[in-house]
Amino acid sequence: MRNQLLVLAPGTSIFCTVRRILVVDDEENLRLVLRTLLRRNGYEVETAASGEDALGLVDSFGPDFVITDVRMPKMGGLDLLATLKAKGNDATVIVMSAYGNTDLALEAMKGGAYDYIQKPFKPDEVVLTLRKAEERELLRRENRALREEIRKEHRFEDILAKSPNMQAIFRTIAKIAEYKTTVLVTGESGSGKELVARAIHRRSSRRGGPFVPINCGAIPENLLESELFGHKKGAFTDAISDRRGLFEEADGGTLFLDEIGELPLALQVKLLRVLEDEKIRRLGEARDIQVDVRIITATHRDLTAETKAGRFREDLYYRLNVLPIHVPPLRDRREDIPLLIEHFITRNNARLGTNIRGMDSECRRLLYEYSWPGNVRELENTIERAMVLAEGDQLVAADLAERIREARDPVQMQLASGELSVKKTMRVIEELLIRRALQKTKGNRTRAAEVLEISHRALLYKIKDYQITDL
Ligand SMILES: Nc1ncnc2c1ncn2[C@@H]1O[C@H](COP(=O)(O)OP(=O)(O)OP(=O)(O)O)[C@@H](O)[C@H]1O
Ligand SMILES: [Mg+2]
Repeated sequence: MRNQLLVLAPGTSIFCTVRRILVVDDEENLRLVLRTLLRRNGYEVETAASGEDALGLVDSFGPDFVITDVRMPKMGGLDLLATLKAKGNDATVIVMSAYGNTDLALEAMKGGAYDYIQKPFKPDEVVLTLRKAEERELLRRENRALREEIRKEHRFEDILAKSPNMQAIFRTIAKIAEYKTTVLVTGESGSGKELVARAIHRRSSRRGGPFVPINCGAIPENLLESELFGHKKGAFTDAISDRRGLFEEADGGTLFLDEIGELPLALQVKLLRVLEDEKIRRLGEARDIQVDVRIITATHRDLTAETKAGRFREDLYYRLNVLPIHVPPLRDRREDIPLLIEHFITRNNARLGTNIRGMDSECRRLLYEYSWPGNVRELENTIERAMVLAEGDQLVAADLAERIREARDPVQMQLASGELSVKKTMRVIEELLIRRALQKTKGNRTRAAEVLEISHRALLYKIKDYQITDL
């Protein structure tokens, strides 16, 4: 764009559409001169003799640029500028000031004016300033479009993520949303399981129908059954009238059974039956009701282990686990952290009325290095807390909870210590990798040795050497 600007014929603009300019000056002669000059250069021009007149024209004319004198009787250029900004008008403002009034011009720049022109001016100067401003605006728009593009790519319904493993989940959701198959979403607490369930619903043709979430672990066993299936009046002491259950509520939509691992065994049998013939029966009722419900379940538990321990029916497990989606913990997808931080800051600024503009590097580093056992929810709460505590418009380390400030990555600490010994530093790294591998394989040493690409014997030796006992 920059080079192209030089070869443009006079009278053309770098924008395809004609740009509109509002000229504001109390001197009639000057308004005339500028109007002629700018029209000859291809702009559409309106003029106003005062700040007030200008404001009256702004909405109807919709200028891209406002060229205004600073000093005018009654409302001057500075007040006009301030009013435009306050109204959220995004026209680019250029001020003109007579020699000797440079202070006012500088003040205008501080107030958000793009540039200033000193009077008396040469015609070329005005045109050149405008061209510069146009170019800048074009860049700004391109940037905005680019940012928008990135944001779209890293957003799937309400889920924000750029990490490859989350992007894979986006693709899976898009693929499976349309089918009525049950989906089992697993992942640690706060990792985003419910968001995944909601995204599946919204991407399916059931989006017009209800999304009904229920936390199976939060409702007492004796109430859960009637909650899910409904009851007939008189079915039990408190059943004072007929009641629809959540399966019926979710008819035509999606029922999200959260914490499915907590479902009592007796209800597991009933659920299996519903899944098989899509019929439910209210408590105390003699007839079945046909329902059309897509079931999505979620758990932070390891259902295979629950099955082995006899707490979860194997047949139901297989029925639910047709399409498993595992949401990885935040520490395994740190690339998502900056995106989430930015999102939570923007959202909280709007919600809390704060004006946080970012964070210092120490704070940023701590947020990247922390292990986030509470996952995205913990990050969300951390940001909110820090924003409330912040004193300036930047978050600093002191605004973070102690557990985050203290939990430093051992490798970073080693590197920061100035230690130059390769041997000592490698040991710190080796220990960290072994700990991570053991964590990932839940303590399975054979699998850990495989991912570490060392022999099983070497691993056992190193576990002893580093005294790794807490796994
Ligand atoms: N990728 C993400 N982008 C934006 N917000 C997210 C993301 N993941 C999680 N969140 C937010 O974090 C919080 C926790 O997410 P969610 O409730 O989906 O987690 P969960 O896995 O269901 O947790 P739990 O196991 O505790 O029920 C919510 O406020 C959610 O909006
Ligand atoms: Mg949840």
